[in-house]
Amino acid sequence: MMESAEVGGARDRRGSIVCIVGARPNFMKMAPLIRAFGSEPGLPAAVLVHTGQHYDFAMSDALFRDLELPVPDLNLEVGSATHAVQTAEVMKRIEPVLDDLQPSCVVVVGDVNSTLAVALVASKKGIPVAHVEAGLRSHDRTMPEEVNRLLTDQLSDLLYTTERTAADNLAREGVPRERVHFVGNVMIDSLLQHVSRAPTAAATLARAGVRGGIALEPPGFGVATLHRPSNVDDRAALEESLEIVGDVARHLPVVWPMHPRTRANVEKFRLQRLVENPRIVLLPPQGYLEMLGLLSAAKVVLTDSGGIQEETTALSVPCLTMRENTERPITIAEGTNLLVGRDRARIVAAVEDILASGGKRGRRPELWDGGAAPRIAKHLASWLVSRESRPAEAIA
Ligand code: UD1
Repeated sequence: MMESAEVGGARDRRGSIVCIVGARPNFMKMAPLIRAFGSEPGLPAAVLVHTGQHYDFAMSDALFRDLELPVPDLNLEVGSATHAVQTAEVMKRIEPVLDDLQPSCVVVVGDVNSTLAVALVASKKGIPVAHVEAGLRSHDRTMPEEVNRLLTDQLSDLLYTTERTAADNLAREGVPRERVHFVGNVMIDSLLQHVSRAPTAAATLARAGVRGGIALEPPGFGVATLHRPSNVDDRAALEESLEIVGDVARHLPVVWPMHPRTRANVEKFRLQRLVENPRIVLLPPQGYLEMLGLLSAAKVVLTDSGGIQEETTALSVPCLTMRENTERPITIAEGTNLLVGRDRARIVAAVEDILASGGKRGRRPELWDGGAAPRIAKHLASWLVSRESRPAEAIA
């Protein structure tokens, strides 16, 4: 990836659309947008900036490859740090880039620290901000992502939403209605585009060179992913989370691609014994396609990820979300999701039910149809044109 702090030919790229990615869940949202922007006549060129919040090959480069994302025009290489330092570093490093490019707008996705940091800098410079996946609320401000969502939405000129409840959340926070556009879910654009290319679970387990064979025998396997601070940063919470995975593994083998944050904490708190279990197949973070293959074939998914709640709903695979709340209520109302917190008895009962009856199958929510990114590109193109034709004093 490019390491310079300047975008090559910045002068020629003035007025472009600056597209920001930072962390793993951003990549599958941005990939279909970059593609749609490229094929929408009337839109300026897109410049892709990676903040470098995620930097491991498995957390970043591998996903670029799988998603056919172009190499970023610029990598700000902020890396890991406390929230304050990481957010501040993104702000400091994006400012000169925006000054050089004078973009016609900045597009941010999701709810990570990079999303808020860039929205804040752009907004103060009078650069329009488009937020994709706006208006989702867990109503839990102890989650860093909730703070990022609230503030990014306050700063955004265009708020593209994935489900209708988002508009109600935004209305309650005083966001003008005309800024909010229900377009569907770009993450599902990526899923529908790539799922047929996903390797089988058998291939992924074989390639990972693990004792994955057990997962391929009846009754099949579960997939676990856990990385939220509330489940993994505190010793007691992490111990409880690991015990829950152990409970589930008594019913069916669990394949667990472990996030680096979780792995580091398992070691720090010396809890390795809880995952040294022949029925828990630990894997490093997986590629996007491998993950789609594993999720599609799973009997049940145990997660605290936002994106996986949506992907399992789109794939019609039962999902048990180890959180007390979700910012994606449509996955519960219409999809396959069930909130279970860290309630061990409830989780075991839910797994038993899924193994006996197949669990929730749900239906795919409105506009989760693979067409969200082209809808955004079309809307953005006409919005930019209408903005240009307005008299200067009318432009906020
Ligand atoms: C971030 C996002 C979260 C998202 C998650 C997906 C915020 C506030 N959080 O959380 O919303 O669901 O990404 O993964 O933006 N690390 C590595 N290699 C990497 C990246 C991280 O080893 O490439 C380790 C570092 O030890 C780091 C820790 O993981 O300190 C946490 O990374 P960080 O980016 O701070 O947050 P995530 O937990 O990944």
